[in-house]
Order: sequence, then C-alpha cells, then structure tokens
Amino acid sequence: MDVSQAIKGRRSIRHYRREAIPQDALLHLVEAAVWAPSGGNAQTWRFVILREQRNVEKIKALSPGVMGNPVAFIVICQDKELAEKNGGRIGRDVLSVMDTAMAAENIMLQAFSEGIGSCAILGFDKEGVRKLLHLPEHVVPELAIMLGYPKRIPDAPKRDFATVYFWEEYENRPKRA
Ligand SMILES: Cc1cc2nc3c(=O)[nH]c(=O)nc-3n(C[C@H](O)[C@H](O)[C@H](O)COP(=O)(O)O)c2cc1C
Repeated sequence: MDVSQAIKGRRSIRHYRREAIPQDALLHLVEAAVWAPSGGNAQTWRFVILREQRNVEKIKALSPGVMGNPVAFIVICQDKELAEKNGGRIGRDVLSVMDTAMAAENIMLQAFSEGIGSCAILGFDKEGVRKLLHLPEHVVPELAIMLGYPKRIPDAPKRDFATVYFWEEYENRPKRA
C-alpha cells in the first residue's frame, strides 16, 4: 500500500468484529508510533496497550467518546516531567501534545495497512484513566486509540481541499496555473 492510499483510505472505525488482535500486531502499531517525528527528539511518549476484555470494558466505561465495541486500546501517554526537562514549558505543554498526535497518526495508518480499524478518542475521563492504568502523577494520558477489525467502514467525510489553502498569504485564493 502506498502512503497516499493509506492516508486517504484510513477511516475512523467504530464498529468492530469480535476478534482479538494478536499481541504482535499491537506491538507493531506501537513500533510505528515511535518512528513518528518528535519535537527535540524528546520521545517522551509512553504507550499502555489494553487487550484484556475486562480492561477494555473499564476504559470504555470512562470514555463517553467511545461509540462502538473496540477489542483493544493503545493509550498514548506523555511523561510530562521528562518533557519539561527536555524542552521546558514548551516541551511539556506543546511539543509533547504534538508528538502524541503524530504518533497517533502513525498508529492509525499502520493499523489501516494491516486491516485493523482504529479511531482516535479524546473523549475520556483523564483522571479515571490515570487511575485505571496506574499512571504516576507526572504521566498524562493524552489520547487513546481504539482498535479492532472493522465490521462496518463508513464513507469518508467530505474533505474541502480547494478552499483551505492560500498562496503566499492568507486569503490569497488559489489561481489555477
Ligand atoms: C484529536 C481527535 C480526537 C477525537 N476524538 C474522538 C472521540 O472522542 N470519539 C470519536 O468517536 N471520534 C473521535 N475522533 C475521530 C474524528 O471524529 C474523525 O477523525 C473525524 O470525524 C474524521 O473522520 P475520519 O477519521 O474517518 O476521516 C477524534 C479525532 C481526533 C483527531
């Protein structure tokens, strides 16, 4: 699969088959995550993988943003202490969040290329998830990725390409060559 196919083909999947994802496949997704760019190369992300159904159910119960029946989660966390040590306040508050987003996209594209459906989830109770995962105070759960083999693949939401970019300055509308 080429990159363009993966970028355009990936969808947020919310309906899954009840089929477990093998451990190796989940590790492969995390491996893809750590190849993402990282501000200052700080790599302060930490990943908690949930595949035991009782834990999947527990995190679901803490996540109003979850619609559907995922069989696994990868919770992308950030060690904020380390992020601050590496990059000061910007490292802690900005770079670590951006790194999370980039790692998330790698996970979701890798998943898609392997036939695994995914959806980013920000709608969860951070404190509840922190407790569930036994995260220390300085480690924050930034974003969860829910996972499973797709049962239903939705149509792509419309993307607006023509009106979102400008040449050289804001609102300088595209001119066709
Ligand atoms: C930062 C972020 C947070 C998101 N949180 C949720 C969420 O809590 N629940 C959910 O169902 N989808 C969530 N999504 C998925 C978006 O709704 C989805 O990406 C968007 O509708 C576009 O659809 P597509 O991913 O299929 O292109 C999130 C996406 C991003 C990037």
